[in-house]
Amino acid sequence: MISDPKEFQSRIKRVLISEEEIKQKIAETGKQISEEYSGKPLLFISILNGSFVFMADLCRAVTIPCDISFMCAKSYYNGTSSCGEVTITMDVDRDISKYHVIIAEDIIDTGRTLSGVVEMLRERRPLSLKVITLLDKPARREVEFKADLSLFTIPDLFVIGYGLDCADTFRNLPYIAEYNEDK
Ligand code: IMP
Ligand code: MG
Repeated sequence: MISDPKEFQSRIKRVLISEEEIKQKIAETGKQISEEYSGKPLLFISILNGSFVFMADLCRAVTIPCDISFMCAKSYYNGTSSCGEVTITMDVDRDISKYHVIIAEDIIDTGRTLSGVVEMLRERRPLSLKVITLLDKPARREVEFKADLSLFTIPDLFVIGYGLDCADTFRNLPYIAEYNEDK
């Protein structure tokens, strides 16, 4: 972790997506979800750790009843196989077959984590399953994966803030920034 405030600041290259832009997109998304899922049993599954900030803001932009659950997934790429293996280090705390499920993710990069998670969750037969991601980096995709809704598409840059980390630091920045890899 970085504990020196000067180094912390020097690692923030530039703001890529401002607090205001994020707020506005989330408000639109919350409205859309509230209309689409009205009267349906809705469960959000937040993929930890990165999506905790996004989930906290998104659920407060939703005006209909919803449940929220958490899942922690790690993906490993085995060089000999064509598709990555996903390990669940913390599973959802309930039977999802009674719910319309929305997975909330921070970023889709290679696509390995979410394609594994979605495959696993589909086997549990939710009433429906959709994926919403805050960020999408399509240039880095290694397995085919498309979110049902992506709030922002970004170029191939390493980004930090608003829940996203670099070596566990920077999650508390209120905006999305490009990480400064120099020095
Ligand atoms: P994927 O399986 O490659 O799609 O992995 C997605 C995960 O990698 C995300 O949930 C993030 O935790 C992490 N990740 C990918 N790109 C970035 C980035 O630019 N900044 C921070 N974390 C990232
Ligand atoms: Mg993540």
